[in-house]
Amino acid sequence: MQDDQNKTTHFGFQEIPTDKKVDAVAQVFHSVAAKYDIMNDLMSGGIHRLWKRHTISQSGVRAGQTVLDIAGGTGDLTLKFARLVGNEGQVILADINDSMLKVGRDKLANQGVVGNVKCVQANAEELPFPDNTFDCITIAFGLRNVTDKSKALASMHRVLKPGGRLLVLEFSKPESEHLSKLYDHYSFRLLPAMGKLIANDSESYRYLAESIRMHPDQDTLKDMMDEVGFERTSYQNMTGGIVALHKGFKF
Ligand SMILES: C[S@@+](CC[C@H](N)C(=O)[O-])C[C@H]1O[C@@H](n2cnc3c(N)ncnc32)[C@H](O)[C@@H]1O
Repeated sequence: MQDDQNKTTHFGFQEIPTDKKVDAVAQVFHSVAAKYDIMNDLMSGGIHRLWKRHTISQSGVRAGQTVLDIAGGTGDLTLKFARLVGNEGQVILADINDSMLKVGRDKLANQGVVGNVKCVQANAEELPFPDNTFDCITIAFGLRNVTDKSKALASMHRVLKPGGRLLVLEFSKPESEHLSKLYDHYSFRLLPAMGKLIANDSESYRYLAESIRMHPDQDTLKDMMDEVGFERTSYQNMTGGIVALHKGFKF
């Protein structure tokens, strides 16, 4: 057993002191914030838009509801939720990183979405909201960056209303060996090269690929959601398991 001072965790493939991970992740997202949206389109060939559209369609969010988009970054999901909940509802775009939030806030303003969205700087592990606040919580491509994932899931469970649902959209484990090999080639060779070429930052994109490999697979994440109290948990693979959408309810 390690004492608290000597605890380590992974940062991509590196093992670092647990209390240094937040800063290391922050550095990545400060660095990529300005080019984040364009890189997302390039890296995924635009497919991230389909994954996000599917997430929205599975959310069941209706007019008048209250939604938390945690690790919401540049606000892709927030933008869509803001239109769904309308003037009677509210969306909180929350992220630990002020550079990502600033890009998100500007994007929302440019799209004319202001009245029903609030931006909050917050850590997913310690959500600064009262118990039973939200009808729906989403975390898209964010959970793998969080140091203590179970703590974050428990915090999300606490702030969900009874009857509310959590959707976790995240990279996961490809279903076939063949796809897995192709994907490895893409993410460890092409991705850092694209990061270097477009954002002059191969290291952040290497972290991205490594953090995906270190993230719990589909069944492990489902078990983690069960353990903190989510019910009727399930997941759907997309694009052969490269991405999975996990869903769980609080009753
Ligand atoms: C890959 S981006 C995803 C942004 C957005 N959800 C999307 O799908 O495009 C990951 C985001 O997670 C945020 N993040 C990392 N650790 C976090 C934490 N502990 N709490 C809240 N946000 C966090 C980062 O700042 C970053 O904006």
